Amino acid sequence: MAHEWIDLLMNDHQVTEQVFDAVERELAKPDGPSPTLVREAVVYFQEYVDGCHNRKEEDHLFPTIERCGIPRAGGPLAVMLGEHEESRSLLPALARQAERYLAGDAGSLADLREAFGKYSALLKDHFWKENDILYPMARRVMTEVDAGSIVAGIEATERALGADTRAKYYGLAERIINAGGITDLSLEVDRDVLAAILNTLPVELSFVDRDDKVRYFSHENGNKIFPRMRGAIGAAAQDCHPSKSVHLVNRILADFKAGRRKVAEFWIEMRGMMVHIRYFPVRSPQGEYLGTLEVVQDIAPLRRLTGERRILAEE
Ligand SMILES: [Fe+2]
Ligand SMILES: [Fe+2]
Repeated sequence: MAHEWIDLLMNDHQVTEQVFDAVERELAKPDGPSPTLVREAVVYFQEYVDGCHNRKEEDHLFPTIERCGIPRAGGPLAVMLGEHEESRSLLPALARQAERYLAGDAGSLADLREAFGKYSALLKDHFWKENDILYPMARRVMTEVDAGSIVAGIEATERALGADTRAKYYGLAERIINAGGITDLSLEVDRDVLAAILNTLPVELSFVDRDDKVRYFSHENGNKIFPRMRGAIGAAAQDCHPSKSVHLVNRILADFKAGRRKVAEFWIEMRGMMVHIRYFPVRSPQGEYLGTLEVVQDIAPLRRLTGERRILAEE
């Protein structure tokens, strides 16, 4: 709890970076972002990032660091303060371009993109420096009493701006973040990258859809515990298993569809491997059954682990 101030400030950074991502995504759309998103983003940057987050640092964190022996001039504090000033000086231009965009001014989208790009690039870099350099350094030089006084200062700054300031602006941030309807980060990853990610997982995956048809398997070109042919795509799940286990397949699928079971798990010894096979129902965020995922892994090497390894081993 002693360095809770780090969590509070880093959380502000994280939320703000998510807002940056959402605004960037919306600005990239050919028709541009919705007027509401533009209005809310400007308010968030002016009132929370500049008017609250930066002030928490300037009024409480930075003076404490200075008192603990890090000079303000010529060191990291001067750099951080300089970047706060610079980000502050970019806000009027951003607000002006937002006004033009909201007024339907032709050509304003390109200018808005540029003004936002400058502002967000500066702050992303600034947050990184604080998270990775300034905050760890501050933690090293200050006492627990100092740390406690920063938390109290952060709360005082927020209180001075009104009741529930943080919750209010985090709520605003959440509306901006969710505005584009992106419900999962994987939707932001290119399909070929996502395919490579699935092929990099240390488990083999197979997926049958809601109609029990095989739709996907991973590691097509690698060595697999259970070889699968591309010709299996489109076949019934029941046809991909020995006839003596078809009743099991049917039971598992029926249980998953009915919501009676969250996993079906088996393990078998085979060619020196301990093959762990698990089946999971795949559901949409709303709980709708989308199909079944088979996950296969040789867990023999994992079972042999003992003790700890905390250093990097040679390959
Ligand atoms: Fe800062
Ligand atoms: Fe910060």
